[in-house]
Amino acid sequence: MKEGQPKAIYLKDYKVPPFLIEETNLHVDIHDDVTTVTTTLKVVKNSEAASEDQVHLVLDGSKDLATQSVAIDGRALTDNEYRVDDDELSVFEVPEQFELTTTIQIKPQDNTALEGLYKSGDMYCTQCEAEGFRNITWYLDRPDVMSKYTTTVVADKASYPILLSNGNDIDRGEEGDRHWVTWQDPFMKPAYLFALVAGDLQHIEDEFVTMSGRKVKLQIFTEPHNIDKVDYAMLSLKNSMKWDEEVYGREYDLDVFMIVAVESFNMGAMENKGLNIFNTSCVLAHPETTTDAAYQRVESVVGHEYFHNWSGNRVTCRDWFQLSLKEGFTVLRDQQFSADMGSPTVCRVNDVAVLRSAQFPEDAGPMAHAIRPDSFIEINNFYTATVYEKGAEVVGMIRTLLGPERFRVGTDLYFDRHDGQAVTTEDFVKAMEDANGVDFTQFRTWYRQAGTPVLDVTGAYDQSAKTFTLNVKQSCPATPGQDQKDPYHMPLKVGLLDEEGNDIRFPVLGLDVSSVDEASGFSAILNLTQAEQEFVFRGIESKPTPSLLRGFSAPVKLRYEYSREELRFLMSHDSDGFNRWEAGQRLALDVIQEIVGQIEAGEEVTVDEHLMAAFDANLTQALEGDKDPNLDKAMIAHMLVLPATSYLIEMSEVANVDAIHQAREAVRTAIAKKLSGLLLSVYKLNQKDVPYQAQAQQIAERALKNVALGYLMQPEDTEMVNLCVYQYESATNMTDRSAALRALVGSAAEAAQEPKEKALNDFYNRFQHEALVIDQWFAIQATCSLPGTLERVKALMDHDAFDIKVPNRMRGLVAQFAMNNIVNFHEASGGGYEFLADRVIELNGINPQMAARILSPLTRWRKYDEERQALMKEQLQRILEVEGISPDVYEIVTKSL
Ligand code: BES
Ligand code: ZN
Repeated sequence: MKEGQPKAIYLKDYKVPPFLIEETNLHVDIHDDVTTVTTTLKVVKNSEAASEDQVHLVLDGSKDLATQSVAIDGRALTDNEYRVDDDELSVFEVPEQFELTTTIQIKPQDNTALEGLYKSGDMYCTQCEAEGFRNITWYLDRPDVMSKYTTTVVADKASYPILLSNGNDIDRGEEGDRHWVTWQDPFMKPAYLFALVAGDLQHIEDEFVTMSGRKVKLQIFTEPHNIDKVDYAMLSLKNSMKWDEEVYGREYDLDVFMIVAVESFNMGAMENKGLNIFNTSCVLAHPETTTDAAYQRVESVVGHEYFHNWSGNRVTCRDWFQLSLKEGFTVLRDQQFSADMGSPTVCRVNDVAVLRSAQFPEDAGPMAHAIRPDSFIEINNFYTATVYEKGAEVVGMIRTLLGPERFRVGTDLYFDRHDGQAVTTEDFVKAMEDANGVDFTQFRTWYRQAGTPVLDVTGAYDQSAKTFTLNVKQSCPATPGQDQKDPYHMPLKVGLLDEEGNDIRFPVLGLDVSSVDEASGFSAILNLTQAEQEFVFRGIESKPTPSLLRGFSAPVKLRYEYSREELRFLMSHDSDGFNRWEAGQRLALDVIQEIVGQIEAGEEVTVDEHLMAAFDANLTQALEGDKDPNLDKAMIAHMLVLPATSYLIEMSEVANVDAIHQAREAVRTAIAKKLSGLLLSVYKLNQKDVPYQAQAQQIAERALKNVALGYLMQPEDTEMVNLCVYQYESATNMTDRSAALRALVGSAAEAAQEPKEKALNDFYNRFQHEALVIDQWFAIQATCSLPGTLERVKALMDHDAFDIKVPNRMRGLVAQFAMNNIVNFHEASGGGYEFLADRVIELNGINPQMAARILSPLTRWRKYDEERQALMKEQLQRILEVEGISPDVYEIVTKSL
């Protein structure tokens, strides 16, 4: 924690580093009580910096570094030659170039913030992004200072037989009961990519031969009891390496690539050069303990971190305002990878669902920021859905505007031109322009403006002229610090359906079109550039139904007055798979909103027949097409899921939480009652007795079956409870077992009450030694929407297995409750808010980064009624008054009050 009021830093104040560090030599001597780090740096003045900034060398550090000595060129400095402040070391009047040696002591075993060197269970590991390296030694801890690292790790041989760092191991030895290994990384890198691991680990090993024929050793390390769960990650790694060669022409560059699984980790995973460190939740997978969704997450996270080797490591960020340069681009890359490995439409639907339920609210709230923010207090608060998911959409729009081939020409130039450099998002866009001779001046708006743009679209058909005219108005709501917005350049992908539901092949001459896509039907990618624009389609023989924003071609909210008939029509005919799903979601949204109105007016609730017919059609298709190999069952499973409560809230002006929840439940019950026969048939048809594989067809069948189970459990029906109990007991994989447990726990049926407790006990006993499964056990209970859940969550805080210091456990119970249990978190008494604020206050002193992250549901108070607003603000106020508030928490609270 820093002293005084935390200060913001600004992108406009960027200055090149006054000094450069050509070589970094670390000697890390690990003992149970204290770890000593001796650092030797080859420092030179940066010829590009102002000489007045080069008189004293100022290094970043933290108050936890106990400085033992400081020396220049082997000569120990006296007290008046340097000064240690809380988080700065100043060395006075330094020469042009010199060797600086510092010795410090730290206590990784007491590091609960999990930044820098810390202990996860019995092993030592590091997390240095964004500014964790300064907790390990005095350094120029900024990404534009790149250095060549040599690292020696020394520890007890018996307790820590495995000692790892970045690059190649070049030397090792032992002395008594201690041993050491020296690692050297031949690539220059910023400090945030440094990693070190020491532990009693086992590993599996494989090999990948790169496109130029080089052999790379692949190793995945875990604690011994998890070594049976890393095969899927290894397969995913090899697939990632192959994919990046094929799609981006990018080859791996070291002789070894290592992944280490650690239990206590703030994030999902980290792309340290040659030594990725992963949260166990993103690398371990086994049929009995891991759901299909978690398998897919492993694949995408392994891909993501691997892809950073080029988009992040070889070409890195100049400063942290450029975070989206590596994260947005790499998320796009991992999304493309997952799409190529599985069902592209399902992947797109999932990605858009995440964007809508996580990023749209952020963009509409007090923390709204551009994908390249102008300022921040604590960089850890800017690893956001905006920088990541919207960042990926922005790079994706460049790809859509250019088309895949020209995009690849652009990325080739970007990687070649900037290899080994620390660059900006501007450099990225410039490479795209230069490689393709295009002008993205207006497109750059996406990098500096926050807020979700809105497209208001109308269509008019002129029978006599045979024209269809689309009028498109774009606007963007004001966000903090940005009242006026400029129009964006964005790709609007559209198709026109004739009365039979076929795509009309309209002439594009005279339209502002960037390209035409004929992959699945016929679409034009329109260039939207003005606040209001008209597109006239000619030669249209009869009134068409427009299919707008196909594939979700831009991260916007699109408004168009579709009738419910038109939505049903698009649902079954649109050649664009994404828009078929989207039409279903729009229809469901419309119907649920109507019911919310009925509930608020105290009227009788009626569920529109169009929606019932749509569900009937989907279920019928699932049955009749069961043997059709082209039937996308995963997509049907998605079509049967109603819009998430969080999205329904996002789509309302002032959200009436209870009415929204009630309306959604009413629709679910109506579907379940009316279509119970079909649901049961679909359930049975997809109940297969096959050995588990994380393979598309199986995953789709389990998804379909478990969605059906969820509906079947909606009405209070003893027979269905029995079916669910049977599934729970006979399940041979975690997907089926946890789906059944979730359905039981969520059931209000009298008949479910006893089996529910029995199953919860059984689940706990069965998996008590599987940490990730116990996280699920907490999460299933925390997200139950029945009344009384807050009390249960509070009671679970006292469970022996609960530990707020372990992020996965904390997230499983606390964050799951606050983020994924909307009715209970927003319970009218405000008890949910108070509970969350208590946890934020507790975590503030333990792990500030986590404290700030779980706080976000409280910042969304503007969406709710006055009573709730007052209660939420009261808790924010209470947090603000905490003594010793961390900059992390301070920034979020002050910006949202
Ligand atoms: N570089 C990040 C990890 C990171 C995030 C380090 C925040 C420090 C602070 C990594 O590449 C990443 O983005 N991980 C994601 C998962 C990924 C699949 C989007 C994560 O950890 O959530
Ligand atoms: Zn990343």
